[in-house]
Amino acid sequence: MRQTAFAAVSAFALVAGAGTAIAEPKAEVLHWWTSGGEAKSVAVLKDEFTANGGSWTDMPVAGGGGDAAMTALRARVLSGNPPTAVQLKGPAIQEWYEEGALADISDVAEAENWAAVLPEAIASHMKCDGTWCAVPVNVHRVDWIWANAEILAANGIEMPKTWDEFNAAAEKLKAAGITPLAHGGQAWQDATVFETVALGIGGPDFYRKAFVELDPATLKSDTMKAVFDEMRILRGFVDDNFSGRDWNLATAMVMNGEAAFQIMGDWAKGEFLAAGKVPGKDFLCASTPGDGFLYNVDSFAMFKVDGADRIAGQKLLAKLVMGPNFQKVFNLNKGSIPARTDVPLDEFDMCAHISADDMKASAANGSLLPSYAHGMALRGAQAGAITDVVTAHFNSDMSSDEAVQMLADAVANSF
Ligand code: GAL
Repeated sequence: MRQTAFAAVSAFALVAGAGTAIAEPKAEVLHWWTSGGEAKSVAVLKDEFTANGGSWTDMPVAGGGGDAAMTALRARVLSGNPPTAVQLKGPAIQEWYEEGALADISDVAEAENWAAVLPEAIASHMKCDGTWCAVPVNVHRVDWIWANAEILAANGIEMPKTWDEFNAAAEKLKAAGITPLAHGGQAWQDATVFETVALGIGGPDFYRKAFVELDPATLKSDTMKAVFDEMRILRGFVDDNFSGRDWNLATAMVMNGEAAFQIMGDWAKGEFLAAGKVPGKDFLCASTPGDGFLYNVDSFAMFKVDGADRIAGQKLLAKLVMGPNFQKVFNLNKGSIPARTDVPLDEFDMCAHISADDMKASAANGSLLPSYAHGMALRGAQAGAITDVVTAHFNSDMSSDEAVQMLADAVANSF
């Protein structure tokens, strides 16, 4: 290990060029990966960074979906002391670039030929004005239902293929005294469920018009009313203690047989796997009812910092994140699939294969769509405006008519 580290540092010094002092790569990494499966995953990166001579300072900010992490990031940047590397994704990358805060990592991207191994849709999120400004870790799918296999079998229930089937299954479970839906009442989790319902009920074109194009007529359409109607139905399937619950505790309810289903992205699979559960046996995975695929690509952006050691750390980190072995091992733990297209999937489970196949098919038929709830489709102000309405509706007896009007108004006022 010591030798590997030494070799890597020496190699780095050589690359840095003759006459340059040896800089020990350093990284302070801001992320929100603190649950069991998430922590196991980020440890893969930390270990690889250290094994390659880097010194890693961890800056975890707990809070699923990353809202708290993004608040912490803003405070650090405003105080003139940004972290070297930040878990950042989607349009937020562009927003920070426009503020002049991001480092250019094009030299690493070009040397490693990222363009040849990334799908164009993913690469475009990583580029700012033609330069590379972020490095992708994975592709998470958001529109998943997870289920406790034993509960479903004991109650004669199949994985639902329509929202009506889901409702019928949930009613049956409720009558049997089982909590149908494990849910954590946090705004981002409400939004996660909402966008899968919107995709399922409205279809891919509706989703795109509503949450990518923010078309006012679509936002207050009858279809959007039907989406809120379904959210009201789902509200009746959660337990009394759902408020404020973390997403991984909701996953644990499914794992432990305290609830039947959870609607959540495939980071939930990372929790099942970290607990030693086996897909197809202990738990089941299926895409939420309807067509399409909602993607959520985690990535890191490097912030402008001083110091040869920190800049060396950024370059090393960027290179390692895109390394084929890292992309495999990290994603085996995280529940996602690699962002690189050339990583063999033979060690991945059935859920990952469904994800990879559906991603390919949806890319071909135009239904591969960015998750709004996970910051892939919209800028912060617009996404936040939608989520505020979704969560206000979920936690009150607001009618669907009121909700769609409020949604259209909130979006219009968010610019
Ligand atoms: C998502 C993130 C995932 C996962 C999840 C829960 O936004 O992309 O990697 O960690 O939040 O924290």
